[in-house]
Amino acid sequence: MVPQSNNSSTKRFLKPLKIFRFALVISIILIGFNLAACQSEVGTGAPTSVPGATENQTDHDTPTAPSEDQPTQPPVPDDTDTIETKWSSSGHSNTFVVTDEGKNSTCARCHSPENWIPTVEDMPESCSACKFEIDPPPPYTSETDWANIECNVCHKVKRKEVQPEYVWLEIAPIEEYADVATTTELCDKCHLAGDIQNHNSVIVEGDHPGYHCTDCHDAHDNTASCSASGCHENIFETAVGIVGHDDNHAAISCVACHDAEGYAIAYIEDLNIWTTVISQETGGTEGVRVITSHNIVKAAHCDRCHYPGNPWELSDSVIAE
Ligand code: HEC
Ligand code: HEC
Ligand code: HEC
Ligand code: HEC
Ligand code: HEC
Ligand code: HEC
Repeated sequence: MVPQSNNSSTKRFLKPLKIFRFALVISIILIGFNLAACQSEVGTGAPTSVPGATENQTDHDTPTAPSEDQPTQPPVPDDTDTIETKWSSSGHSNTFVVTDEGKNSTCARCHSPENWIPTVEDMPESCSACKFEIDPPPPYTSETDWANIECNVCHKVKRKEVQPEYVWLEIAPIEEYADVATTTELCDKCHLAGDIQNHNSVIVEGDHPGYHCTDCHDAHDNTASCSASGCHENIFETAVGIVGHDDNHAAISCVACHDAEGYAIAYIEDLNIWTTVISQETGGTEGVRVITSHNIVKAAHCDRCHYPGNPWELSDSVIAE
């Protein structure tokens, strides 16, 4: 029931144009106010670059190994019902956002590509020949009209059938798709978002060269796990004699020790886990946000936590032998 990707794109395109109704202003302000508590000024970091633009990707080490080489893929593809259920449970099915100012037209580029109406400057180069008039996008699309990230963002839909190949819906209003060579290239369209305030770019570095996003992540429920992926199962029992792979560190995430990015570490009480974080300004106060390091190496950095004067009163120095 969930995916509505088969709905005519033209209809969806027309919808946002009809939303110049400011009767909702009050609720927008309320929503904006609520959001201000967890994110401030995201709007001022409004993106200017285009999703497909190459400059977005230049700093990314293009993995070389083919994903087929990786051991993490389930051998049998999921059926469509399973995929729909998985997708519904993922963040991609629920992406509505709005800035403090009650706007979200620029956010839609990644949060709801079907609602994104590119300006002339936003037009991807691949479409420089596209000659069509486009009205300026409405500054706000309501949650009801928000399309989220449906199947048709990553798959062409032919006669209501979602095609299994993945592609990138570059310009929704004219149903223009762009080919992507790898799943990383697809995910990067949105997950290389470092220039946007309170956003983080995911770049896979370290000891997983050649790994693409879906070598670790399920493409539909988005989950990933080091220890439940078939890769590092029972690592604490199999890699024996490692100080760190022990009961003392049951609440320490793998990345807290194996991160090479240099992220800060925090204890997240709600989750009872120590993990990598970035600081983030939320409603005027400094807080932290969990960011799973994607720069993972074998060497472990014990002194991220065990250093003289650490705030958690852990022992000053330890030896990883
Ligand atoms: C159209 C833009 C877009 C594309 C393409 C995209 N993502 Fe996302 N992704 C998002 C947004 C936006 C969120 C945040 C959703 C939220 O929580 O509101 C997100 C959230 C996530 C999360 C956090 C967990 C969750 O489900 O909320 C993971 C993991 C993730 N994406 C992985 C991927 C992978 C892997 C790919 C490629 C197969 C991918 N994404 C492609 C936009 C995108
Ligand atoms: C370049 C693509 C891109 C643009 C443009 C973008 N976002 Fe995001 N946003 C993402 C991705 C990808 C995530 C998921 C990040 C993650 O989980 O690491 C995300 C996550 C978020 C989250 C956290 C969601 C959650 O439920 O945890 C908020 C809030 C957010 N974005 C707000 C905004 C707002 C407001 C705008 C517009 C001003 C915006 N974003 C524009 C890509 C984008
Ligand atoms: C964010 C992008 C994204 C979205 C949204 C998405 N898919 Fe996919 N889908 C992929 C990728 C990437 C693959 C390839 C997975 C791989 O190679 O590991 C894939 C694979 C598939 C396949 C091939 C079988 C398989 O499991 O590999 C089918 C069928 C499919 N998707 C259907 C859907 C349907 C139906 C929806 C909506 C409910 C959907 N997809 C939403 C990215 C996406
Ligand atoms: C080597 C395995 C691996 C690869 C490759 C990988 N991820 Fe992850 N990723 C993880 C793990 C493990 C988590 C943590 C999942 C959890 O905590 O539930 C994660 C978490 C995330 C999150 C959640 C936000 C956060 O920071 O915690 C996002 C978004 C994400 N990955 C996106 C991507 C994208 C996009 C790619 C490809 C560019 C990618 N990942 C490649 C293993 C991987
Ligand atoms: C408290 C710190 C710590 C935590 C948490 C931790 N590790 Fe380790 N890990 C180490 C140390 C130390 C080594 C040995 C490093 C070396 O030989 O240079 C190691 C080695 C490894 C190795 C290489 C094993 C080998 O045989 O060479 C793998 C794989 C690994 N860890 C995976 C994981 C995974 C997966 C997790 C999460 C489930 C995890 N680690 C959690 C500290 C940690
Ligand atoms: C992310 C934070 C973190 C990292 C990184 C970390 N530890 Fe710990 N370590 C802890 C915590 C928390 C405890 C205390 C557990 C408790 O008290 O129950 C602990 C306890 C210990 C203890 C036993 C008690 C003590 O304080 O002497 C030893 C030994 C130890 N760690 C060694 C290491 C080694 C070796 C490494 C690197 C391989 C390491 N730790 C990396 C958080 C960390």
